[in-house]
Amino acid sequence: MTKIIDNFKKVIEVPNEGIKTRREKTLVTDFLKERIDRVLISEKCLELRIKEMANELVKEIRQSKKELYIVSILKGSVIFAADLIRNINFDVNLDFLSVSSYVGRKPGKKLRINLEPEDVEGKDIVLLEDILDTGNTLNFVKEYFLKKKKARSVKICALLDKPSRREKEINADFVGFSIPDCFVVGCGLDYNQHFRNLPFIAVFKKY
Ligand code: IMP
Ligand code: MG
Repeated sequence: MTKIIDNFKKVIEVPNEGIKTRREKTLVTDFLKERIDRVLISEKCLELRIKEMANELVKEIRQSKKELYIVSILKGSVIFAADLIRNINFDVNLDFLSVSSYVGRKPGKKLRINLEPEDVEGKDIVLLEDILDTGNTLNFVKEYFLKKKKARSVKICALLDKPSRREKEINADFVGFSIPDCFVVGCGLDYNQHFRNLPFIAVFKKY
């Protein structure tokens, strides 16, 4: 496996692991083989990195002496959220938010909030997202928390980051893996609501 983590700093490379372990072979059935190119990040690798991310968050919260108020963005970040919070050894407040896009009268994609979190006025929030792609979603959600919900601060924690696709000037404060421009599924990420349950991150063939 390639070196992936540089002293808890930003991830520098992702491993490209193929379909190797017996568990992966069992999960990637013939049906999936037609759709999945390769395993980009294995289950083990995800487990180790998510543990490290939890440590990074804990360190930051301890230093700032703030409460940890996590908002997980549905549905993609649910599996990441479940794995992350179980590696945090103090009290965590977990809430959810749902955001979707729709076509409005003016050109361009619009976003709207479908499920509101509890009252977050004055709170320091950590937003959990599966992937930071163009940055439109997180940019919108961050503004929503700061301006509309009057949160005190908003940090972003994304399992994956595709920096080459960015349209908005936004970066995550915590990133699991920086990946190239390919469409991925698994660990919560979907293609038309499928493949969220794969325990690894795989490259999807049709992109
Ligand atoms: P953004 O607004 O372009 O940053 O998009 C963020 C959302 O797009 C994520 O929450 C995902 O739902 C979706 N997305 C972006 N890239 C991928 C991918 O490679 N696989 C699955 N979903 C993706
Ligand atoms: Mg999503």
